[in-house]
Amino acid sequence: MKKKIAILLSGRGSNFLAISGAIERGELDAEIACVISDRADAPGLAKAREIGYDAIFIEPKGKSREEFDRLVVEELKKRNVELVCLAGFMRILSPYFVSEYRGRILNIHPALLPAFPGLEAQRQAWEHGVKYSGCTVHFVDEGVDTGPILLQAVVPVYDHDTPETLAARILEEEHKLYPRAIALVLEDRLEIVGRRVLLKKGQAK
Ligand code: GRF
Repeated sequence: MKKKIAILLSGRGSNFLAISGAIERGELDAEIACVISDRADAPGLAKAREIGYDAIFIEPKGKSREEFDRLVVEELKKRNVELVCLAGFMRILSPYFVSEYRGRILNIHPALLPAFPGLEAQRQAWEHGVKYSGCTVHFVDEGVDTGPILLQAVVPVYDHDTPETLAARILEEEHKLYPRAIALVLEDRLEIVGRRVLLKKGQAK
């Protein structure tokens, strides 16, 4: 049976589409059990619905962080979701959510963590003047972009870049990196030692 993953998103959903595409092409052995959003008008949610995925909007207004997260977790459990993939999900998860799915929540961040956590990471990196940036897939813990790092990809920053051109270069790498990271987790090829996420012994790189 295919392992079930869920995508949580708040925006355009290009990472969701990259994951969905990798599954369609047979590069990732998984099933997207549902796509959940805290934004009724998220373009990614509309695309999920169009493709025919179970696309769920959960209203955040008037709910505490944990109240909202309990509704999300309920949907995930109903569908036996094994791995939760945050893909542009603009909410910090409650300790309740993190503890329910510890080690089974991934996020993608558009910078080389621990540099430039938080919002507008590509602009932060550009303004700082770094010569290389990139993206990071990490496990989610209680902090903001602080969990153990699975994979990173590096891109150069050129003198003629703007935050937008840099973001576009990073996004291309995100779309390749995220499906690879998900595959590593679903194939149970990783172990976490302290903060370090390592390939299990005997696993070819
Ligand atoms: C990506 O840059 C991702 O790294 C960040 O949010 C953005 C989401 O983009 N966490 P999209 O909705 O997947 O197109």
